[in-house]
Amino acid sequence: MQPDFTTELRRCDEDGIAYAAELIRAGQTVAVPTETVYGLAADARDSDAVARIYAAKGRPAFNPLIVHVAGVAMARDLAELDDNSLRLAAAFWPGPLTLVLPVRAEAGLSPLVMAGLPTIAIRCPAHPAMQALIAASGAPLAAPSANRSGAISPTNAEHVRRSLGGRIPLVLDGGPTARGIESTIAACAGDHIRLLRPGPIAAERLEQASGLPVVVSGSDHGIEAPGQMESHYAPSKPVRLNATDAMAGEYLIGFGAVKGDISLSETADLDEAAAALFAALHIADASSAPRIAVANVPMEGVGLAINDRLRRAAA
Ligand code: TXA
Ligand code: MG
Repeated sequence: MQPDFTTELRRCDEDGIAYAAELIRAGQTVAVPTETVYGLAADARDSDAVARIYAAKGRPAFNPLIVHVAGVAMARDLAELDDNSLRLAAAFWPGPLTLVLPVRAEAGLSPLVMAGLPTIAIRCPAHPAMQALIAASGAPLAAPSANRSGAISPTNAEHVRRSLGGRIPLVLDGGPTARGIESTIAACAGDHIRLLRPGPIAAERLEQASGLPVVVSGSDHGIEAPGQMESHYAPSKPVRLNATDAMAGEYLIGFGAVKGDISLSETADLDEAAAALFAALHIADASSAPRIAVANVPMEGVGLAINDRLRRAAA
């Protein structure tokens, strides 16, 4: 296939942001770092621009996008925030929490963003580059992870270039992302909180901040976060979980006492492991070994989100 673009890499400095904002205003897509993973951003009010996101990723049109905002005020222009949502926003924004909220009729968002749902997923990112791009372009920015649909999420600019090179005009390079795992997605439901996707903000912290119980709304409850499809984050090779040793032909991703060819965290630190997870999968996928094995990671705190992504990588 003939590439549509020569994909440029630019630093996230003032000039880079200004150029990115120019592209956004012209209805183009731009890959930009956030504190979780790199996102592929476009003006959420412009259907042609949003359609370019779906096309570049090869994303099914039924899978809605997250809209990134500067803060609570901008969120309230787009969606209805009840008291519990406001409490969560006050506790965790800017940061890696996405809230699914009833969309306002007058929000002016492209209907492609919601993919037919009456709700909108909104997140206020902590990364200065994404915040600067929202400010400079003056737009709420729809941004899914900047990878081909179903592939491993990108935690550095090179991951984006390898996945979307030739399909987008620009990658803003802000180095490796700090959290490494996509935002926690939650929805307030009156007397409880539904956890739609585990992420860097663990369920316990949502309970503490809101005083409400958190109920996991996984795939057994119907597709709540439609992108939470079983096979996702998929390397091109088979993945075996809970490995204690490498079998013949396996590239072993270690954790703690399990050393491996590479380690998510030699000290068994879960935040460090989350930040390293997707880069390790990218490295294992690019290695000469025909198969990937991954050590056990405990199911506590952000370990739940790590195991969620690993299960999908192995599915
Ligand atoms: O950390 C993140 O959230 C990153 C960065 C770039 O912000 N973004 C991200 O986007 O992970 P994406 O598109 O890869 O994942 C968005 C998820 C999908 O599972 C999608 O189905 C779900 O959010 N989603 C979007 N709108 C929704 C809605 N109205 N109701 C339920 N789930 C929704
Ligand atoms: Mg994604």
